[in-house]
Amino acid sequence: MPASLLSSRLLEWYRVNARSMPWRGHPDPYAVWISEIMLQQTRVETVIPYFEMWMQRFPTVKALAEASEQDVLNEWEGLGYYSRARNLHKAARIVAGKFNGELPRDLDDLRSLPGIGRYTVGAIASIAFGMDEPTLDGNLRRVFARLFDITESADSPAGEKILWGLAAEHLPAGQAGDYNQALMDLGATLCLPKNPRCLLCPLMDLCQARIAGTQELRPVLKPKKVTPHVIHAAAVIVRQIGNLPHVLLAKRPSDGLLGGMWEFPNGPVTGNPAWELGQAMRTGYGLKFQTREPLAVIKHAYTHFKITVHAFRVEAAHVPNDKKLKWVPISELENFPMGKVDRQIARKL
Ligand code: ADE
Repeated sequence: MPASLLSSRLLEWYRVNARSMPWRGHPDPYAVWISEIMLQQTRVETVIPYFEMWMQRFPTVKALAEASEQDVLNEWEGLGYYSRARNLHKAARIVAGKFNGELPRDLDDLRSLPGIGRYTVGAIASIAFGMDEPTLDGNLRRVFARLFDITESADSPAGEKILWGLAAEHLPAGQAGDYNQALMDLGATLCLPKNPRCLLCPLMDLCQARIAGTQELRPVLKPKKVTPHVIHAAAVIVRQIGNLPHVLLAKRPSDGLLGGMWEFPNGPVTGNPAWELGQAMRTGYGLKFQTREPLAVIKHAYTHFKITVHAFRVEAAHVPNDKKLKWVPISELENFPMGKVDRQIARKL
């Protein structure tokens, strides 16, 4: 298929059908960067209110660089994949220190920043800087795998190579930003994972998968592993300090899942959570307590596993002095960034 036919049809469609988003047409590369990081793994409708609050709270790279990690995680709370927020924060400090607060235009410099991979480099370079750079996210993978009826699995190195090649091959010079975003919109609104709306697609007659009737079978993906399910017991320990009720929180290690965020002391159990809570608290935190009373059962699905947390209200007999444990006034819990599970427990108090 001639490159120009694909891109001209797509750009014409985009001129009429582009979704309206607060970062589109935003002159500031910082805004494009923030939106691209937020949009990884997260839908546009979810991102919009977070983006708007973020830009008020941290309107410039400098403002973000000067914020504390706790404030940054607080603004991010609810978006998930918190390493994105920690990386943004680290990258903002580097951009402020090394690049005078301006996102670098050099692709290697961009790529060197925490949290900026090949996809984000392509998106920022094309959308914010107008450079002729391809990009490839989940939507574009699906669109190209269908347009060219690619049988190689899209999540294999060979499939990746083919798809990046296609993303570059058909790029219209001078319009890469609109072209890449048109493909994103097409993937999000018409070229859907299930029941693609081929009859509305401007590329229907060019689509090799549509012609072969294989559109629902593309992209080919490696079989998914089954997601493990873990069960945890958590202790909600309330204590009157001064004239305010406080609750005990634990800070998670700064790397890994929900790194640097706060949670109720908890640990894995294999049998009855009420019976095993004591053991989990002793081994995990050196905490000892007397009574327990069920407070909530919360379920949550992460990408790689599912978790059920049984939370108990607990009367503590011994709480060790430990840097990662903190008594927090219940009225201030909102200022402590937490994952979804712990925030639901906190809201029960
Ligand atoms: N997903 C990620 N970046 C996007 C963008 N700029 N427009 C639409 N969807 C996107």
